[in-house]
Amino acid sequence: MSEIVFVDSAGRETRVNAEDGETLMAVAVRSGIDGIVAQCGGALACGTCHCYIDEAHLDLLPPPSQEEADMIEFVMEPKPNSRLSCQLLMSAATDGMRVIVPDNQH
Ligand code: FES
Repeated sequence: MSEIVFVDSAGRETRVNAEDGETLMAVAVRSGIDGIVAQCGGALACGTCHCYIDEAHLDLLPPPSQEEADMIEFVMEPKPNSRLSCQLLMSAATDGMRVIVPDNQH
């Protein structure tokens, strides 16, 4: 179990518990986080689960696969800390992770 902190563009925080092995996308969708659309349901085909990971946790995550990195090139405003939430599995290492949710996915 870990606690994830979603942060919107206005700085509002939503704290949610995540089960180990759950994807960050699944956590966001079941928690009703606006801005994580996840159109393809995690098939790495849409890029609408894009988010920014706080620097403190970025290096604790496995690096993106080539497929994830390729998809990130097509999201709105990609940054060095961009990740696709459907590719990130929650674990003890993600406890306290801050996830910045983009304003727009299109
Ligand atoms: Fe479509 Fe992540 S949900 S790429």
